[in-house]
Amino acid sequence: MKIKNLYLKNFRNYAEETFSFDAGLNVLYGRNAQGKTNCAEAVFYLCTGTSPRARKDKQLIRAGESAAFIRADAESRFGTVRIEADIYENKREIRVNGMKISRNADLLGNINGVFFSPSELRLVQDGPDERRRFLNVSISQLSKSYYTALIRYNKILEQRNALLKNRDLSVVFETLPVWDAQLCRYAAEIAEKRQEFIRELSPLAAERHAYLTDGAEKLEIYSEKKYPATKEEIEKKLNEEFAENYERDVRLGFTASGPHRDDLKILIGGEEARVYGSQGQARTAALAVKLAEVEIFKEHAGEYPVLILDDVMSELDLPRRRKLLEKLDGVQTVLTCTHTEKVLFGKTVNKIRIAGGKIKR
Ligand SMILES: Nc1ncnc2c1ncn2[C@@H]1O[C@H](COP(=O)(O)OP(=O)(O)O)[C@@H](O)[C@H]1O
Ligand SMILES: [Mg+2]
Repeated sequence: MKIKNLYLKNFRNYAEETFSFDAGLNVLYGRNAQGKTNCAEAVFYLCTGTSPRARKDKQLIRAGESAAFIRADAESRFGTVRIEADIYENKREIRVNGMKISRNADLLGNINGVFFSPSELRLVQDGPDERRRFLNVSISQLSKSYYTALIRYNKILEQRNALLKNRDLSVVFETLPVWDAQLCRYAAEIAEKRQEFIRELSPLAAERHAYLTDGAEKLEIYSEKKYPATKEEIEKKLNEEFAENYERDVRLGFTASGPHRDDLKILIGGEEARVYGSQGQARTAALAVKLAEVEIFKEHAGEYPVLILDDVMSELDLPRRRKLLEKLDGVQTVLTCTHTEKVLFGKTVNKIRIAGGKIKR
């Protein structure tokens, strides 16, 4: 997938600007706080319908304005696609080729995007939430049924947790099996897709990691929780597990196990990276995972996603920067940095200088 151009209107610190992107490496450079990440954010927003950093869409609207607008024209193997988003304070409208979509699921898969910034280090260093978020954002782009299952699962889970706080225990124990029958259908979809994704991710990430570290350290990724092979078996197992834990959940007042609590283990050289890894090790592991993700997208969607590398070069040492650049062949990349000479090694690329929410031509 290649984005040909991006138009921003009243988005973050941009009043109005149009970017033309090359099919290869696009470098947004300039001093701090000029709008580089804002542009990268807009690209990812059109891929996924969510910002990699803002909690609320409202933050995307230029201060003092009432709406933001972003548009991109892209080319995929299915032809050209135009994505537009009107973002208002309390609502938004997204259109794909002029057609308004009613569910975010219908946006996913039009332009696939992989976003990597220094805060993706959290993937390795933070708690399980970050790793689940990574899985959710990534798999949702590849599978609408995953995304839909996730939304429904979370909704039922919320209701289940409310029920668990009900002090009328006969009602609780009567209603739980009803919720759980539904919950486990979606839970099984989520667990199965994650299992499949991790099975593919793990060897690819290990390979990328060996490449980045010249084979110095071994990266292992696996799901802490083991599920059976088929979705039917997973559903059955989950139903049993939920039922076995009724009393615990009632006592705690929330659902203490299930896919919303599953974690991904990341080991470097046999040690858990989260606990024992250095900052540098976490960085390289996270990068390896992201590069593996790019490859999985290629395998599933038949073409590379758009790769957004926000500020990551400054975090890497020279040999790794060089290695990273070598891995980008054929992948449309939007890269932000402050000093191009430190990242490009003389490569000719599409350079775009940003200052004060404008392209400096
Ligand atoms: N909603 C907004 N309206 C106006 N300016 C904004 C908005 N959100 C962020 N900014 C401004 O954008 C700038 C940061 O842009 P950013 O893309 O993160 O910088 P960088 O070039 O360092 O990546 C800051 O000056 C910030 O004040
Ligand atoms: Mg930035």
